Amino acid sequence: MILEPESQFPNKEAYQLNILGDRIAIYASTNQGLFYGIQTLLQLIPLTTNATEIKLDNLMMDDVPKFQWRGMHLDVSRHFFSKEFIKKYIDYLAMYKMNTFHWHLTDDQGWRIEIKKYPKLTEVGAWRNGSMIGHYTDQTFDDIRYGGFYSQEEIKEIVAYAKERHITVVPEIEIPGHALAALASYPEFSCTGGPFEVGKSWGVFDDVFCPKDETFTFLENILSEVMALFPSEYIHIGGDECPKVRWKSCPNCQKRIKHEKLKDEHELQSYFIQKIEKFVNNNGRKIIGWDEILEGGLAPNAAVMSWRGTEGGIAAAKQKHFVVMSPGSHCYFDHYQGEPKNEPIAFGGYTNVEKVYSFNPIPKELSEEESKYILGAQANVWTEYINTPEHVEYMVFPRIAALSEVLWGTSNPNEYKVFETRLIQHFERYEKKGINYSKAIFEVTSKVRPAENGVAFELKSVNPNGIKYTTDGSEPNANSISYEKPILVTKNQTIKAAYFENNKVKSAKIEQPFFITKSTGKNIELEHQPHENYEIGGSFTLVDGMKGNPSKFGRDWLGFWGKDLNATIDLGKSETISKISINSLLSKGSWIYYPKEIQFLVSNDGINYQSIQIISQKEIEIKKGKVVIEFPKLKAKFIQIVAKNNGIIADGNPGTGSNSWLFVDEISVE
Ligand code: ACM
Ligand code: ZN
Repeated sequence: MILEPESQFPNKEAYQLNILGDRIAIYASTNQGLFYGIQTLLQLIPLTTNATEIKLDNLMMDDVPKFQWRGMHLDVSRHFFSKEFIKKYIDYLAMYKMNTFHWHLTDDQGWRIEIKKYPKLTEVGAWRNGSMIGHYTDQTFDDIRYGGFYSQEEIKEIVAYAKERHITVVPEIEIPGHALAALASYPEFSCTGGPFEVGKSWGVFDDVFCPKDETFTFLENILSEVMALFPSEYIHIGGDECPKVRWKSCPNCQKRIKHEKLKDEHELQSYFIQKIEKFVNNNGRKIIGWDEILEGGLAPNAAVMSWRGTEGGIAAAKQKHFVVMSPGSHCYFDHYQGEPKNEPIAFGGYTNVEKVYSFNPIPKELSEEESKYILGAQANVWTEYINTPEHVEYMVFPRIAALSEVLWGTSNPNEYKVFETRLIQHFERYEKKGINYSKAIFEVTSKVRPAENGVAFELKSVNPNGIKYTTDGSEPNANSISYEKPILVTKNQTIKAAYFENNKVKSAKIEQPFFITKSTGKNIELEHQPHENYEIGGSFTLVDGMKGNPSKFGRDWLGFWGKDLNATIDLGKSETISKISINSLLSKGSWIYYPKEIQFLVSNDGINYQSIQIISQKEIEIKKGKVVIEFPKLKAKFIQIVAKNNGIIADGNPGTGSNSWLFVDEISVE
């Protein structure tokens, strides 16, 4: 290992690794560069057992990370993780040459950092009298006291441990929302005075910090202790999901709005963040916050963490603010990574390894100059549904490997298969290290396409030749039909498939029932396009013969954010019909609402439409989203369905003030 002059390298994280004969040399201008060289070397050492000699191929490589913020986040509020596991987590980051650990230390469900000046934050705020069990939509709870926190001594130990591994720990103290645990400890800093209980439910709470002088003193004292513990350039101040209901009816808040000549409560949030920013800046640090800090005006030096898509990041970069990309679509490791029914319960969404690998932190909307404001990207691990270290590992591995390549600039989405082959070699290492990882990449995945009188069902896996399937409802085994080409489906039937290697099943089984009706595989046009995160099969998703699984909405559904579904199906010829059905979803925790109403129309010429029925939101609720209308036989060539989006989410719900999602699937015409 050789330290060289800085001028020899593009930056302080770069290194060169040379292997020639019996000589291995790592060159860099810093210990950090050398450290990365060693991590790469460790990955090159083959995993042979009982070897007395290890052979490495000759190699000369120059490596430099593409992005300077290579982050992984962990939420320790919803569930608490021991100091020992946090160190392990830091080791995992180091293994993949990440350099930033975003530690989400405070939230509604628990305050996890000792603050000497305010002991009740951990005496009261670190403990809750129960937790949600099952999914948010189930609304069921246990009554087990749950909690924990890190002492300042433990935090110093962790920060030092991370530093040895060239990882900066960025603490997050949530302001002004997600503050219930703090307010349960010190209700005087709320608008109403409380009392409050540390959150037992997931989601978003209306009681938030009240922007009065005493609150700022409280927060500044907390931040002073935080800055003394964490030497990071950035302090994360949250800023996301702050309902404005309390502020609207609080005399203190309204006085502040008047006095500071603010337009509304959004500008009050911006005022709040700017005041905190000034304090942090005066202490020689910078703030970073979730993209809601753009609303009502961005604080002058703030960096933005873009999570609700990449739009916030794009807006911030255009305003010459630094950005860390962390969009739900590619970077939320609390989403499903495999077929939901084979996976432990997860937040929702579907973000598999391939999706992570395909991520480009620099959006095409940015010019070269603006792109310089993209510091990098990070994956977020929210732990509502993750309560053991093994489960954290499962959500992180192997997706972290894909993110690492994105951030070091070696990913190439067109060569995903090459990456996958390399990735499988990592699995053996995970097993040696005792890391619990997801094997979802072995899963059989599918695509459907329109075909003559039905659909074609295409199957994929690590190696498609290993797929076996049945069409008669029986379980696939090593002697079932070998998959060769897309399976033509023209009648109601269920296809079951699994991936086999050496006659042994390697993947969970997939099972796909098909419902072929007069609309299946027919031409369908949409007036508004679905959101980019939920458009996997495009409009065809609605007539692909597959009904979306109502409890798992990551796939097989089209998602519209704030927009209506307006679909027109061309049946190809005039057909006699008497029944139409369509499904929609409700999951308030994920901001998904049933449509306000659904209108069904028919036409024979595609110009003049006749409305045959309108179904109200009430009726949709009663039918739990499964709407079927039956009517006297009629002839029609075109079917139009308009499902109106629920609109802005009402106060008191997760996502208050944001657009609702509308999730719809399978339109059947009989
Ligand atoms: C977030 O996921 N609420 C930042
Ligand atoms: Zn107030």
